[in-house]
Amino acid sequence: MTTRTALVTGGTGGIGTAIVQRLASLGHRVATNFRDEAKATAWQAQMKDQGFDVTIVPGDVTDYASADAMVRAVETAIGPVDILVNNAGITRDGTFHKMNPKQWHDVISTNLDSCFNVTRQVIDGMRERKWGRIVQISSINGQKGQYGQANYAAAKAGMHGFTISLAQENAKFGITVNTVSPGYIGTDMVMAVPEEVRAKITAQIPIGRLGKPDEIAYAVAFFMPDEAAWITGANLSANGGHYMGW
Ligand code: CAA
Repeated sequence: MTTRTALVTGGTGGIGTAIVQRLASLGHRVATNFRDEAKATAWQAQMKDQGFDVTIVPGDVTDYASADAMVRAVETAIGPVDILVNNAGITRDGTFHKMNPKQWHDVISTNLDSCFNVTRQVIDGMRERKWGRIVQISSINGQKGQYGQANYAAAKAGMHGFTISLAQENAKFGITVNTVSPGYIGTDMVMAVPEEVRAKITAQIPIGRLGKPDEIAYAVAFFMPDEAAWITGANLSANGGHYMGW
């Protein structure tokens, strides 16, 4: 496989780390962004110990100018971005009648505005070079909704609307744009859900367990090879059978 330059936003998190490692294992040059330099440097050292050489650059995906500087820094370090995984995301759960504007805006800006802010920085280069892979990490809860997640479900559903529009606009430029919709994965984000609530959710998963981060990374990697050139605008569910929409 040709070596490409990949940027995974939020790559130091649970699913992000698995995506970074899998893309690096495929031979790609991989970068991610950070807001907390000390934490990211420690994470980078851990990656190095495990045999992964990952570039880290400062960048806040909620801010357009910061996303611009972040992408330019990646280009300088390892070359123009061929693969973008919009993975950075947060939750601020709460039932809607109790939700405050900050909970709403924090989630929409981190999970959805980020897709505009970061993708806008790489799209011209991909179009010029006639090759690109863009993957949004959405969620099962963008597909089915979730009690306590009006903000998150709205952002995650919005990500797929973004995917299918970009897929159409960029199809003639060798760029595929797809979504991966993870179900409940055993990450800090899901472990933060109160235990009794989480137990009820896990009981609804036909496969009978939470997913593993690498099971999402595998789904992301599926879109990378040249053989996947005809797959664009797709939403790939990876959720243990928890939601079987089509
Ligand atoms: N369906 C119906 N009723 C539900 C419900 C559900 N799914 N979940 C909770 N309720 C009910 C409770 O039984 C309770 O009812 P009673 O008052 O009659 O006892 C009531 O709702 C509680 O409502 P409150 O407004 O008082 O809720 P709260 O403020 O205590 O907290 C919550 C509610 C924050 C939503 C909490 O239930 C929660 O954390 N739920 C999990 C949300 C979730 O799945 N988050 C996913 C995070 S991980 C992630 O997002 C990754 C990914 O992509 C999958």
